[in-house]
Amino acid sequence: MPVVPATEEMIAEAARALARGEIVAFPTETVYGLGADARDADAVAKVFAAKERPRFNPLIVHVPDVAAAEGYAVFEATARKLAEAFWPGPLSLVLPKRAGSGIADLVTAGLDTIALRAPNHKIAQKLLAAAKLPIAAPSANRSGRVSPTMASHVAAELGEIPAMILDGGPCPHGIESTVVGVSGGAPMLLRLGAVPREAIEAVLGQAVPLAEQDSAIASPGQLERHYAPLTPLRLEATDVRQGEALLAFGSNAPHGAIVSINLSASGDLEEAAANLFASLRRLDECGANAIAVMPIPERGLGEAINDRLRRAAKAR
Ligand code: TXA
Ligand code: MG
Repeated sequence: MPVVPATEEMIAEAARALARGEIVAFPTETVYGLGADARDADAVAKVFAAKERPRFNPLIVHVPDVAAAEGYAVFEATARKLAEAFWPGPLSLVLPKRAGSGIADLVTAGLDTIALRAPNHKIAQKLLAAAKLPIAAPSANRSGRVSPTMASHVAAELGEIPAMILDGGPCPHGIESTVVGVSGGAPMLLRLGAVPREAIEAVLGQAVPLAEQDSAIASPGQLERHYAPLTPLRLEATDVRQGEALLAFGSNAPHGAIVSINLSASGDLEEAAANLFASLRRLDECGANAIAVMPIPERGLGEAINDRLRRAAKAR
């Protein structure tokens, strides 16, 4: 069984596995990642194979801090400002790739940009410190499925494929990092995520538009079928129909669902984001003919939550 508690010893063992070219799942503050040495093309290829991920979809490289990131990308004023404000934390920056940085081409899918992130999860930081290498890590799910927020989710999807799955408990944010493109021109939101758009705009003092989702500039990953449970979703539901499960939000949850989970009874969007993927997984397994989803306000983290729900609803 590759799930192990994330003790100092196991973290050291995971670092050795990465150095040997193996792949290892580990917790971050957003979701669990499936990591490989970003400089080792064979190791990175194992990640793509494990996830059945299309090769045009590049990976995020995890680093301890800005100093390390500067070895792989060129930081200009805007990028520096964002890194100073949000790193370590759930923000990924897409920046011009530095020539000769040693990152495997497969990581960046042949683009001249690279996505970098310094995570603020203690276990992720310890793993980076022990391994002393850049860790390329997509979310540790099969391509197109809901991201894992618990070690058991990773085990359910990937089984024995990773050399180890470091169990660090549930991920505190529960939704993927926000991806911002800063590779020339105005900054753009390439993926909504755990840092709300408003927080980024406040730091930069300017509006940060969301890239057209079907444009070449958007994260290639946004083109994929994504974030999908197998059970159909019915969004903006204010009632429950025969045979439905309910994903509730707030205090006015309707009755009658075969199973009901409230993302946040008090209407707290951070709590809702943290519960989102685990709740979708549970409702997906309860045999309902559909999952009714109550309306979620489109502010703060609600924007990212609604983005994931709309993709999940559209995905079939
Ligand atoms: O929270 C997260 O970001 C998690 C944890 C493990 O750090 N990782 C994650 O990775 O969500 P992944 O691979 O599932 O999503 C990465 C996203 C994809 O949409 C991908 O297309 C985009 O980042 N991306 C990566 N490199 C890019 C680049 N050079 N240009 C544009 N988008 C890029
Ligand atoms: Mg993913």
